[in-house]
Amino acid sequence: MNFNLHQYLKKKQELVNRYLKIVLGQYDQNRELIQAMDHSLMAGGKKLRPILSIAAAQACGKDFMFALPACCAIEMIHTYSLIHDDLPAMDDDDLRRGLPTCHKKYSEATAILAGDALLTHAFNILSNPEQIFKKYPEPQIRLNLISKVSLAAGIQGMVEGQMLDMQSFQLKQKDSLTHLKKIHELKTGKMITVSVEAGALSVGTDLKIIDKLIIYADKIGLAFQVVDDILNIEGDPKIMGKAAGSDVLNDKMTFPAIIGLDESKKYAENLIEEALESISLFEETATPLRAIAEYIINRNH
Ligand code: IPE
Ligand code: IPE
Ligand code: MG
Ligand code: MG
Repeated sequence: MNFNLHQYLKKKQELVNRYLKIVLGQYDQNRELIQAMDHSLMAGGKKLRPILSIAAAQACGKDFMFALPACCAIEMIHTYSLIHDDLPAMDDDDLRRGLPTCHKKYSEATAILAGDALLTHAFNILSNPEQIFKKYPEPQIRLNLISKVSLAAGIQGMVEGQMLDMQSFQLKQKDSLTHLKKIHELKTGKMITVSVEAGALSVGTDLKIIDKLIIYADKIGLAFQVVDDILNIEGDPKIMGKAAGSDVLNDKMTFPAIIGLDESKKYAENLIEEALESISLFEETATPLRAIAEYIINRNH
């Protein structure tokens, strides 16, 4: 199959952006809260998580338009996590998605509230998709999506991962690799896994198939954060649209800091191979998922 990943990513980014615009377009654009949400949401993010939802729905051979409410909700939660991650009390970063961070452009208070509103509204979209979307899953599936996404984002997911990340500089202990994997799985992996899962769930996929997709997603999710650690050392801030070198500066526990740069690269490659293996029985419908797995280790931003 002749597949152009670049075109695919571009088209799907445009689709997701269009719907995110409609979501915020319902509100008065003069409100600072809406402007701050829009600033971060519409900046140059890759939209990888929603694209994974779409690709997962396609891998299941279904109409991915049913996954769009989940796509928008997950991207809004991801964006909130970045706004809060950049705050002075956390990573204290000035640049995000090629633009000033939300608190730099507006104020700390506004950035906190814009994050809060993105998180809260994501669940409104999952529960009331008919306000915006033409196609959406039936109520039982929506309830399941709300349950899965809230778990991935919260106490057993991203927020706990961020908590452990914040504490990680204090704990360079002997079992640090196991601990680091746990941090990465929570802070980044869970939201990536739920993106894939939500895409498949939105189109009503069999649980056995979803199990295969979850293995794929767990592997690429961990690889994604390992590559993020590598890019923090080797990446070009102009291409990435965010600062490099900050992990060393903040004495963060990262894969390169613990196993070295070369081993980190090998580790990410192995994870991608395992991810591909777990979806080897899928037909050509999984071509986008396969291409995205390769892209994750070859990306430069
Ligand atoms: C950045 O995520 C934060 C991590 C979890 C590593 P992305 O690299 O997906 O950021 P955007 O969405 O493209 O800005
Ligand atoms: C961000 O992790 C992860 C979340 C926001 C959940 P990092 O702090 O490592 O990522 P960047 O480098 O700021 O994007
Ligand atoms: Mg951080
Ligand atoms: Mg950060």
